[in-house]
Amino acid sequence: MAFSIHTNHRVLFLLPAGIYLVLVYLCAVWPAMQEQAAMEKIPQPPENELVARGRELYGSFNCVTCHTQQIRGDERKASDNDGVRVVPVLEADARFGRELATRAEEYAWQAPVFMGTQRIGPDLSSTGRRLPEAQWHYWHLYDPQSVSPDSLMPPHRFLFTTEAPTGDAQYDYEEVQVIAGLGVSGGKLWAKPDAVALVEYLLSLNREYLETEGLGK
Ligand code: HEC
Repeated sequence: MAFSIHTNHRVLFLLPAGIYLVLVYLCAVWPAMQEQAAMEKIPQPPENELVARGRELYGSFNCVTCHTQQIRGDERKASDNDGVRVVPVLEADARFGRELATRAEEYAWQAPVFMGTQRIGPDLSSTGRRLPEAQWHYWHLYDPQSVSPDSLMPPHRFLFTTEAPTGDAQYDYEEVQVIAGLGVSGGKLWAKPDAVALVEYLLSLNREYLETEGLGK
């Protein structure tokens, strides 16, 4: 019985090891390859350094603890439209101005994804579309209550300065049009480069590229 698992220790080792490798391939490697292939079919969003930096800051300021980037679909109302599955937006989410629920491909090139789980603030998937003015975002980040009176969002004043930037650095700053509600003494305020990048990222959340690629609204 040269190949008996009870007496041949090579078989005893190789058989489970072989089964283990096959399972690793089937459960991990193969699905990952499928995902990768599916992702590569999805066009990469246009690259923009400022947006990429803003995205990084969005992660490091932990905005994701209060904001999601996912519009839920109402699976009960899903229908088939010429072979394309259409899932209408859950009523509670429809107020974010989306006609379609978020789809997996929207996250394809994002690492990490900021889907979030908490909606203490509104969903931000299409904030650049709803709020396309950079100045509004500066006011809001400096003092959320200046534009949204009952806001719970913490102010991010460290992203601003009242001292006029000088030298070459000034090109990375953005002057804020001071409104009365901000309570800035001296009446002058500049958004620091980090605020400029963060707001650029927020404005980029408008799905334009997905729409041009016919991937969703
Ligand atoms: C403690 C929870 C909390 C955190 C942290 C937080 N937010 Fe908010 N955010 C809110 C709430 C609540 C609102 C809704 C009221 C308002 O407009 O301020 C809001 C609103 C917003 C809006 C307006 C969205 C809209 O469609 O009306 C934007 C944009 C926004 N937040 C961006 C950010 C960014 C960027 C960060 C990280 C720097 C952040 N938030 C961190 C709670 C939070």
